[in-house]
Amino acid sequence: MFSSRLHWDLTPNPLTELLRAKLDAGETILDLTESNPTHAGFTYPENLLDPDPRALRYDPAPRGIASAREAIAAYQGVPPGRLLLTASTSESYGFLFKMLCDPGDEILTPRPSYPLFEFLASLESVHVKQYPLAYHEGWWLDFDELLRMVTPRTKAILLVNPNNPTGSYLKKTELEQLVALAHATDMAIISDEVFADYAFEMDDSRVSTLAHCNDVLTFTLSGLSKVCALPQMKLGWIAANGPRHEEALERLEWIADTYLSVSTPIQLAAPRMLEARGDVQRQICERTQQNLAALNGRHLRVEGGWYATIPMPRTRSEESWVMDLLREHNVLVQPGYFFDFQSEAFVVVSLLTKPDVFAEGIRRLLSFSED
Ligand SMILES: Cc1ncc(COP(=O)(O)O)c(C=O)c1O
Repeated sequence: MFSSRLHWDLTPNPLTELLRAKLDAGETILDLTESNPTHAGFTYPENLLDPDPRALRYDPAPRGIASAREAIAAYQGVPPGRLLLTASTSESYGFLFKMLCDPGDEILTPRPSYPLFEFLASLESVHVKQYPLAYHEGWWLDFDELLRMVTPRTKAILLVNPNNPTGSYLKKTELEQLVALAHATDMAIISDEVFADYAFEMDDSRVSTLAHCNDVLTFTLSGLSKVCALPQMKLGWIAANGPRHEEALERLEWIADTYLSVSTPIQLAAPRMLEARGDVQRQICERTQQNLAALNGRHLRVEGGWYATIPMPRTRSEESWVMDLLREHNVLVQPGYFFDFQSEAFVVVSLLTKPDVFAEGIRRLLSFSED
């Protein structure tokens, strides 16, 4: 009766089960995975959600209404005509996969990275091939491996810049290689830049955005969920540029017109939300810097974003570190395998965690790992 797009394994994983049992038993858990900014104690302007009476009228605009696109264009540094609005970055991926791929086509995604790609692609009957990011005093793209994965069915290379969870940026030399490859094989580049405003330090060798890359068909993605730290507002966008970008936007507009999923109130509020972003971004940057400092150099190099990766002794598996940390020390972290790290043992922590919880959780984690 049901489709086989997903594996539909509905059994909860052991970490989730253990967490639920502990919470049911009334135990206090130090949650170092909190990455929902609206749960992390930041302050937002109270008038952000004031209703706008213009929202009582509905004039469908599949690419997004002009005032919202103008405000996003100013943020993104592209003309409004290059933009198409969506309900989220996840929806942007769905639209792009529908537009670029037939069932059975392939996309290249980084490994380690954000775990949702497999689902987003499977839901469009698209196959994911993961190209490795390797670590040596910093993360770099293993271009030879990536090259080996390209087939005639590969339609797009996906980048997350800076990446979640490694916090690494694409470097200019890497971009040159990717652009040459995309050009030679007629592939598009999709650059997820949701964390672009959260860099830790400046670095001339890195690529800060692909929004101005005109050599190949390129799509730059972002949204209010990270830019304004408002995941509940459900507004994302795609900026298209490079050869055939207008044709691509016309096709995307058809897809968007089929769903018309972006609400009018959020589009009307978007300029005000973008204008207010500076204050919450400052609070987040202070928080992430403070938590990073509390790690005292125990983490892998991280250049931006909301996460840090901590290597653990290889005397145990990730599963065993993470389960015992929760079972014996009431500290919740994410295992590297959630993000498809190629080797063990790593744990990932959210730098958005409240600093007192973070410091105590890290203290327990380090004393447990050094026992
Ligand atoms: C790299 C990356 N892209 C996209 C998203 C999802 O963004 P949205 O809420 O706009 O769908 C996330 C959420 O954590 C993310 O980490």
